[in-house]
Amino acid sequence: MRYITFALAKGRLARQAMGLLKKVGITCPEMEDPNTRKLIFTNEELKLKFFLAKASDVPTYVEYGAADIGIVGRDTILEERRNLYEVLDLGIGKCRMCVAGPAEAAELLRHQQLIRVATKYPVIAKDYFYNRKHQTVEIIKLNGSVELAPIVGLSEVIVDIVETGTTLKENGLQVLEEICDLSAKVVVNQVSMKMENQRITQMIQDLRGALA
Ligand code: PRP
Repeated sequence: MRYITFALAKGRLARQAMGLLKKVGITCPEMEDPNTRKLIFTNEELKLKFFLAKASDVPTYVEYGAADIGIVGRDTILEERRNLYEVLDLGIGKCRMCVAGPAEAAELLRHQQLIRVATKYPVIAKDYFYNRKHQTVEIIKLNGSVELAPIVGLSEVIVDIVETGTTLKENGLQVLEEICDLSAKVVVNQVSMKMENQRITQMIQDLRGALA
């Protein structure tokens, strides 16, 4: 029997996902050590491997088959546009992709003005403004702390993830438009789905059952 390999978006999502997987007997005791700096873990008995990757790289590992299964946020899946099967919504890591900014920016959005949009998600932002709203905007790619952009005058609005809304509120910004709901998904490599169909399908079925 060959190993089935999971790529997990490291951090809170990986910890929550492992909690869910444990419910259906997909475990990895080696991973439970809170002080470990290892990136790859094995359960020899179940012939499973797990590795922790940067969220935005999880779809890449899965598309190329370095991992059979990935667990990652829908934001990353939409942004990366990789060829993979999206098989299950885990219902964890729930948040929203939003256009946000100072209250005054609502007017600019309403009047279809040429505005600057700062974001970690240029693909999602472009799709929203160009294809859904038919509004021409300038997209400025940032890598984090995107809320800074409208405060320091880099952009009029941002496209970013809103979970509790605290970051926006504490920086004098607000949600202006909602783009979509987000949560963590299970994705599967297209070849693995054929070659290891029985094991992977069983895991997905078990997980679906545990979530229901
Ligand atoms: C995310 C997101 C927002 C914040 C939203 O940032 O980009 O900044 O969380 O959460 P809230 O609505 O609960 O305040 P993250 O912590 O991933 O950091 P970064 O985007 O700045 O890298």
